[in-house]
Amino acid sequence: MTTTLIQFAYLIAAVLFILGLRNLSSPKTATLGNQMAAVGMLIAIVATLLVSEVVDYPIVLAGVAVGSLIGAVAASRIEMTAMPQMVALLNGFGGAASVLVASAEVFSRTTQGNEPTGIVPGAIVASVLIGGLTLTGSLVAFAKLQEVMTGSPIQYPGQQYLNGFLALGALVLCVLLTMSPLDPVLLWSLIGISLLLGVLLVIPIGGADMPVVIALLNSYSGLAACATGFVLDNSALVISGSLVGASGLILTKIMCDAMNRSLANVLFGAFGAQDAVAASGEAVDQGTVTAYTPMDAAVIFSNARSVIIVPGYGMAVAQAQHAVRELTDQLVENGIEVNFAIHPVAGRMPGHMNVLLAEADVPYERLVEMDEINPQFPETDVALVLGANDVVNPAAREDETSPIYGMPVLEVDRAEHVFVIKRSMNPGFAGIQNPLFFKDNTMMIFGDAKKVIIELTDAVKNY
Ligand code: TAP
Repeated sequence: MTTTLIQFAYLIAAVLFILGLRNLSSPKTATLGNQMAAVGMLIAIVATLLVSEVVDYPIVLAGVAVGSLIGAVAASRIEMTAMPQMVALLNGFGGAASVLVASAEVFSRTTQGNEPTGIVPGAIVASVLIGGLTLTGSLVAFAKLQEVMTGSPIQYPGQQYLNGFLALGALVLCVLLTMSPLDPVLLWSLIGISLLLGVLLVIPIGGADMPVVIALLNSYSGLAACATGFVLDNSALVISGSLVGASGLILTKIMCDAMNRSLANVLFGAFGAQDAVAASGEAVDQGTVTAYTPMDAAVIFSNARSVIIVPGYGMAVAQAQHAVRELTDQLVENGIEVNFAIHPVAGRMPGHMNVLLAEADVPYERLVEMDEINPQFPETDVALVLGANDVVNPAAREDETSPIYGMPVLEVDRAEHVFVIKRSMNPGFAGIQNPLFFKDNTMMIFGDAKKVIIELTDAVKNY
């Protein structure tokens, strides 16, 4: 009876996870989706605690209390810009849990003399290998983003060979451990090699590519949890692990596609190592740049009927989202139609711009996805590019030799007037110059995004 109830509770939890994920696909329903998934997780935890194998409730409950307290304090204190690091840590903990549970299962079975059979040995091996490399890989990702260690790719001669050799060693250990799942030497060796692989595979990846790596490690933590579900014969863990594994992989693909890069290029291309060289090398004369002031811009804004604001990483750096909300209110008050063009990889993490603009209470209806807004640029009076660079670079469409050729971009240059707010002529993440800045209809306003937007709002108000 209890078993049927537990399985039923797991089924409800699984349905809530799936509905939660569905709702996360739109900013409007994301909060509800998050709450649904959290309730699903609560149901799954309570049902698991009812399993008769739980022997020590006080210890389990103490763990739940301490974990919940740390989680709640960390989540409420974390800055939105530090979210990728937080997710990296959580992925790492997921990987660690899989290694610990699978190892505990091995030791407990060794004590009972209960050799695992069927799918269980393979599941133990997968939990240890994937969980181990997720743990250390995520810790390196965290350290890079938190700037505890260098964000630049760390490379050395023979790196790929060493990684290949270790991966081969891990594979051999996996086969041996599947055949003798209770051998402690094999288990410890696999734990050691997977922890080492996690570090070595992530250090050659540039800090700015970390969001993609974190999405991939998120997927790994799900796969490890799924394998652990098979070790424990727990269907809730199998389902939730598969959902995390699949959604993490889909997100990784979306991010790679939006950057027009393959996953292999992200993982092995050491992107960022040549940024400085590319930046200086590309800074050749491309034409004349016209610098304007916010006052000059106010004249054009006063005659505009439609404005599209294109936020990018610079808006996040300057924390200009509240200022841009005030500018939007002012423009709308002046009878101008205002929309925001959202590129899928603007900023440095998925949904970066959506989150910042939501924080500043910019209505969701004004946020328009790239495919939908691109046809609107030719009929738009002003495109206001706010700290964005690569995502508006026309070279992605026009210059076959450009490293970002083929990347889908926001076609701001097709608007009648383009204002670009940034501090200098420095390139963005891709390290390449942007021909948009030299176009006849482009006007540069140099300065910090927040400061310029505040001045522009005043100028528009008082014009
Ligand atoms: P970027 O191309 O990185 O350009 C940002 C621009 O903001 C820079 O040119 C910088 O110029 C300007 N800026 C920085 N601080 C500023 C400030 N305080 N005030 C005004 N401007 C400031 O940004 P993007 O257009 O958003 O493109 C994102 C890039 O990141 C893409 O190449 C994408 O592939 C990559 N990427 C994205 C993700 C995700 S998931 N979003 C993950 C990994 C990589 P100045 O220094 O001259 O001010």
